[in-house]
Amino acid sequence: MANQRAKLVVGNWKMHGRLADNKVLLQAVSQGAGALPQQVGVGVCVPCPYLAQAQVLLNGGRVGWGVQDVSAHAQGAFTGEVAAQMAAEFGASYAIVGHSERRAYHLESVELVATKTVRALEAGLTPIVCVGETLDQREAGATESVIGMQIDAVLAKLSADDAARLVVAYEPVWAIGTGRSASAEQAQAVHAFLRARLAAKSEAAAARVALLYGGSVKPDNAESLFRQQDIDGGLIGGASLKHVDFLAICQAAVTANAMR
Ligand code: 13P
Repeated sequence: MANQRAKLVVGNWKMHGRLADNKVLLQAVSQGAGALPQQVGVGVCVPCPYLAQAQVLLNGGRVGWGVQDVSAHAQGAFTGEVAAQMAAEFGASYAIVGHSERRAYHLESVELVATKTVRALEAGLTPIVCVGETLDQREAGATESVIGMQIDAVLAKLSADDAARLVVAYEPVWAIGTGRSASAEQAQAVHAFLRARLAAKSEAAAARVALLYGGSVKPDNAESLFRQQDIDGGLIGGASLKHVDFLAICQAAVTANAMR
């Protein structure tokens, strides 16, 4: 059955960027994205020091933008943290939560990721909830149990209406930054599993939530991934730092959208 979800491609710059380079990149992405059909969404998630720069260069334009993490707290004595509401004040639309790099290096638990998701929603941001298994977990046959636990912890804290406001990104840890993408079939299998988990919460959420794939998405593998039934776009790391590559991936989403 054909689905009506719009494709979405979001860049995750991670801890990359400098003011001058960002300006060149954002202007090139804006210009290139302006030529793409509206049914494909384009976004970038920047480091927090560049909120004002993203505000100036992107607000009101074709490219949405967001942050890569938010605090689990709304405000208070939490030195170094950034509240979702602060990012929203600048015009952010998205907040990545639960990226595997934060789960691994900052020991973020499934409960913490769920709380951050709630904070993002309260601030009017679209959370991009990342889930994914390590290579050891995949090889032990634990992919579905790991991902099921990660997504269920988030869904447990949300109403059915709020669940429908999520974006979920499947990012196998072994595919991130390694040049070794999941195959389209491997990714589709996990996306179908995630879709079923969403459906157990709410049919509306299952129908509406964009499920992105992330992990070594490049111009040459994007289209075959995006043509899968349950893959609604991508969360792009390294390739989002080069406007030519990022726009080629966005174009792959346009092509896949037309063929689906
Ligand atoms: P790469 O595209 O560099 O593999 O990173 C994926 C990712 O972690 C996006 O959040």
